[in-house]
Amino acid sequence: MARKKNSPKGKPLSPAQIRGAEARYLMNTYRRPAVVFTHGRGCRLYDSTGREYLDFLGGIAVNALGHAHPRLVRVIRREAGRAIHLSNLFQNPYQAPLARKLAEWSGLDRVFFTNSGTEAIDGALKLARAYAHAQATASGAAPKTRILALENSFHGRTFGALSITHPTKYREPFAPLVPGVEFVRFNDVADLEAKFDSTVCALVLETIQGEGGIFPISEAFWQRARALATQRDAALIADEIQCGLGRTGRHFAYQKFSSRPDILAVAKPLAGGLPLGAIIANEKFASAFVPGMHGTTFGGGPLICAVALEFLNVIEDSNLLENIRERGGELRQGIEQLAAKFDFIREVRGEGLIVGIDLSIDGAAIVTEALRGGLLINCTHEHILRLLPPFIIRHKDVTEFLNKLEKALQQATRLKTTQNAESKAQPIALAAAR
Ligand SMILES: Cc1ncc(COP(=O)(O)O)c(C=O)c1O
Repeated sequence: MARKKNSPKGKPLSPAQIRGAEARYLMNTYRRPAVVFTHGRGCRLYDSTGREYLDFLGGIAVNALGHAHPRLVRVIRREAGRAIHLSNLFQNPYQAPLARKLAEWSGLDRVFFTNSGTEAIDGALKLARAYAHAQATASGAAPKTRILALENSFHGRTFGALSITHPTKYREPFAPLVPGVEFVRFNDVADLEAKFDSTVCALVLETIQGEGGIFPISEAFWQRARALATQRDAALIADEIQCGLGRTGRHFAYQKFSSRPDILAVAKPLAGGLPLGAIIANEKFASAFVPGMHGTTFGGGPLICAVALEFLNVIEDSNLLENIRERGGELRQGIEQLAAKFDFIREVRGEGLIVGIDLSIDGAAIVTEALRGGLLINCTHEHILRLLPPFIIRHKDVTEFLNKLEKALQQATRLKTTQNAESKAQPIALAAAR
């Protein structure tokens, strides 16, 4: 089969050979299971042996239309034969229409396209600093430079985004980072008020913390953050890279509040799996960028913008926001029922199709059992199962998911009980093996 020819000489590599080559040639940044996925269709993935998996991770919130969506495939084929890349030195037919749609969806004004989420965050920070510098130049005052971010946040891996990412495990190996960052306790209005003084140029928050374990910003915190940012002439930056673009059943998660951010960062699902992010800002902040101040070689090329435009059109044409709300409701209800059976499920959080299942036990074994049973999920912070399924899932997919998850939970509990019994029987031998 031509699809399997993944070695330079055209002879298919076996999963074991791929594993060996990865261990030899890739930098050691990911711990991966042995499975090799070769293709997908809708919310199903297939491995190199042809085995089918239900994909409730969606490439970590990226494959929002599942795999091989016919409308995205058609646009990729069409545009690949026209112009993949043109350079941001020139106009292309799709950037402006895509920017217009993002402005309409968000209620903001202007867009800058990036290649990833982390670059959208770095660009958003630069925009906030550029605005502060311009204001300072106009008034003769010293520029505000401090940036506030939240505890338990995750914003990306480049230096700017890393500097506002809270857990020390991400930051410490790369110190020193960008100076001037201070962390506010999550949803703690008093701490926010104490730290948000007139030297702050931006407050960055995830409207729903994703990597942190699916924790939504409270209405009280959002409204106070909005008011303080306005009072201090600082930017309220919402990172909706994981929770935005429909995932909550609204275009953006912040739309459940009555106010908007000044700057919004999006990425992950924007081009249906191709790498594209965006900084979206109101006119006041967007106008701080003038030609030459910021740029990118790849961001916003014609093919990728055409695909992103199609992605947003599919969401509208297929009423996917409604589907997200309905399937999300079924999913929550089914998991709550499982929580009544498994006492180690402490809490279920989230909205629409971003869901966290908080456990009082380690989640890794459950993820492994789920994979063994043909289900893809993920675990964050060692004990929070994370579900980010495609927006196109149907009722029967939710039912299948709940059955598979229940089996994985049963199997993981069984393993744990056996391990506990064994460790009680042979405490010395196990301690030595560790
Ligand atoms: C909320 C949030 N911000 C930023 C990022 C970084 O995005 P990227 O991996 O595209 O750089 C992520 C990625 O997981 C994210 O979840």
